Amino acid sequence: MKIMKVDHYEEMSQEAAKLVKEKIKANPKATLGLATGGTPVGMYEQLIKEYKEGSLSFRHVKTINLDEYVGLTAGDENSYRAYMNNLFFKHIDIPNESTFLPNGDADDLQKECEYYEETIKSIGGVDLQILGIGGNGHIAFNEPGTPFTSRTHVVKLASATREANARYFDDEEDVPEYAVTMGIETILESKEIVLLASGENKAEALRELVEGEKDEANPSTALQGHPNLTIIADRQACKKL
Ligand code: GLP
Repeated sequence: MKIMKVDHYEEMSQEAAKLVKEKIKANPKATLGLATGGTPVGMYEQLIKEYKEGSLSFRHVKTINLDEYVGLTAGDENSYRAYMNNLFFKHIDIPNESTFLPNGDADDLQKECEYYEETIKSIGGVDLQILGIGGNGHIAFNEPGTPFTSRTHVVKLASATREANARYFDDEEDVPEYAVTMGIETILESKEIVLLASGENKAEALRELVEGEKDEANPSTALQGHPNLTIIADRQACKKL
């Protein structure tokens, strides 16, 4: 595990964008695993800037996202599909058919999970996975207690997660109760992982990830065994390290 301590959110975003850019330069057909939430927004902004300046193209890149809420259509402004389209995809030259997210509105969610696993395989697996971390140690939507052997599955969101994400909805009641998420084992199969953490509210989760015992009670500790993990965290998030 490599830890890159940076001063603030902007620097974290720039360093993350730099790693993504290097990956695409080395392999223009790279598959990127992407995350949502507040943390990676600055990284996406930086990547859009690089694209607009002409120093980066996503024409042959594929992207696959970690998770999606159950019950929201792709057109719903709170879906992760809408987040990705609005904050990233529509600003760059990636073909729509090269971007993948679970369909949280599928009639048969179990089948959707299986289909998503097949999709990951069919595009050659994830070359570089970007991750955030929940205050309770979740990665993607793998809540505390999720088996480390889990594959893409439907999850009931922890109340702490629904509270944390309520800021995007009119009302906390509107936050979906369930989500489809890549499993922990699915995530661990990524060839390289970059985890981003910013702010004091992530300090305890980050301490657990770096120094805690590997335990399913804390999903992020599964990452300790990954052979190519880089953590980019700002001063506030590193407070307890
Ligand atoms: C969300 C997402 C995760 C994200 C995490 C932290 O619920 N499913 O992928 O990493 O929680 O979110 P944020 O970056 O907004 O703190």
